[in-house]
Amino acid sequence: MTDDDFAREQLATYHRDPGMVLQMLRNIQLEKNHIPEPDILILAEGLNLPRTKVQALIDFYSFLHNEPRGLYDIYFSDSITDHMLGSRVQAESLCNKLGVELGVPRDDGVVTVSLTSCTGLCERGPGILVNGLAIDRMDDSRVEEMAELIEANVPLEEWPLEWFMINDALHKKGPLLNNTFTPGAAIERAILGGGDSVIDELEQSGLRGCGGAGFPTHRKWEFCRSAGDEQRYVICNADEGEPGTFKDRALLNAYTDAMIEGMTVCGIAIGSSKGYIYLRHEYEFLRERVNRRLERRRTTNLLGRNILGHHGVNFDIEICMGAGSYVCGEESALIESLEGKRGIPRIRPPFPVTHGYKGRPTVVNNVETFCYAAGIVEHGAEFYAAAPGEPGWKILSISGDCSRPGIYEIPLGTAIADVLKMCGAPKNVRSIQVGGPGGILIVPDEFGRQISFDDLNTAGSFMIFDDSRNMVDVAVNFTHFFAHESCGFCTPCRVGTKLMVQMVDKIEAGHGARLDIEQMERVHKLMTQASHCGLGQRAAVPILTNYEKCPEHFLERMEDVEYKPAFDVEAAIERSRQIVAEEGRPR
Ligand SMILES: Cc1cc2nc3c(=O)[nH]c(=O)nc-3n(C[C@H](O)[C@H](O)[C@H](O)COP(=O)(O)O)c2cc1C
Ligand code: SF4
Repeated sequence: MTDDDFAREQLATYHRDPGMVLQMLRNIQLEKNHIPEPDILILAEGLNLPRTKVQALIDFYSFLHNEPRGLYDIYFSDSITDHMLGSRVQAESLCNKLGVELGVPRDDGVVTVSLTSCTGLCERGPGILVNGLAIDRMDDSRVEEMAELIEANVPLEEWPLEWFMINDALHKKGPLLNNTFTPGAAIERAILGGGDSVIDELEQSGLRGCGGAGFPTHRKWEFCRSAGDEQRYVICNADEGEPGTFKDRALLNAYTDAMIEGMTVCGIAIGSSKGYIYLRHEYEFLRERVNRRLERRRTTNLLGRNILGHHGVNFDIEICMGAGSYVCGEESALIESLEGKRGIPRIRPPFPVTHGYKGRPTVVNNVETFCYAAGIVEHGAEFYAAAPGEPGWKILSISGDCSRPGIYEIPLGTAIADVLKMCGAPKNVRSIQVGGPGGILIVPDEFGRQISFDDLNTAGSFMIFDDSRNMVDVAVNFTHFFAHESCGFCTPCRVGTKLMVQMVDKIEAGHGARLDIEQMERVHKLMTQASHCGLGQRAAVPILTNYEKCPEHFLERMEDVEYKPAFDVEAAIERSRQIVAEEGRPR
């Protein structure tokens, strides 16, 4: 096999489909530790794409690289709860033992140690990725042993097997986590009852999207079904990039059949024959498992042509992998990524239900939403809501300062104080971040508030901080996360997130003054009004909310500091306004 053969093989495997270029690049990256120039040219020529388009993908996705990474390519999770468990210290310690600088491949090309936004192992952190595979519960002894294995050039297959066993801590089970699904039961009901009955059942149940926005699921499916097009698509959003969220990981692992069943039922209800699972790069370890389930369902006639012997009922599912981008969880960015492009959110409307994947009507739902949909169609609306109008359920991913971090399926309407009891949170909880970095910070006098669509809405992230934690550190972590993950499409977010980093770093270093907070509020206002997607609109929230709710942490670093601007705030805001005005829309 010559050096070029692998790239040519990719072209053949994906039938020279330009939409699959991201999958090909990712495979090359995993095979060769980088994407060599000749491979870029082979893909560009074979797919009839300009070289610059292929390069733009490498620039956009965090796990694609032009320059060789180490043969052992290690990423430590930089999520705040991993920090709290010592990830930074461990990354530094591993770097020291291996004589390597963070983020820079060692001269002999053997190893690279870097940071990444979040590996989705928050309840069992610190989590790392080694050549794309996840390892949880890093500690000093694992760091020590890992350094020895690397120096001795031991192949990954011979590393301790238990390091790669990712278990799920399912602490509280409700209807979904307790349910034993009968594969094919919901599909049979959907086929016999037809699309109307499926959508009616979903409406009765009150199921709303579990990915964060809470859009009623029956309406999404109905809109898509009524869009006048022959070809429709079903997409399962398994990108789960929000720091502190890992419940989809557990569902993909232990409730794979329910998710696939939900997608198939959706396909039957809306008249689609093709589905995709967009699986985040960090969940490579789950890919084989999901693939095996898909294969088994094909052999048992639950997927493919003439499902369960019903002539003309055809539906199949393919897995596509992400390559490192949080914003690709936003549904229109996800669709762009699935089409082999950079994950830049689309201007909406039109929405995916009418103009989605390849411009066709598309349902995008979260993993959890599909699982509940399968249960509702199999068992009836009461599976989710015991009576019409009842609020239903939510699966939380709980991490941070508590004795039982993990997965909890709770009735919507549960008070924060009760959630804290369930997970063994200490008495000295200072605050909770509900809904990830872009969510909301809750302090003790708000612990009576409830997890619900009307009060504290969350895709599932629930991070607990006791009073030993400093909220400036948390704000710094979240602000850097947003700046790193901004896709750069629109100026208010691209520039605004960088300005926020400068200001929060200044405060962290003890050089900030109260006037900095005022300047941040001004930048935040502009970002909220003019950013194109939820990332830019929420990116400044953590600093300002943390300041509002835990001011003492900020003020102690601001005492007697004379205001010196981190940059020319007026000029930056004015320039952003001009660009937005000139272009007539966010850019
Ligand atoms: C920046 C950003 C990131 C997102 N990430 C995810 C994600 O990882 N998983 C997800 O299901 N939804 C995510 N969403 C929400 C999706 O855009 C979309 O609303 C969701 O997939 C719809 O599914 P649902 O109706 O089942 O909730 C994200 C939204 C934004 C703005
Ligand atoms: S708000 Fe940020 S992440 Fe969203 S499109 Fe604009 S630049 Fe990209």
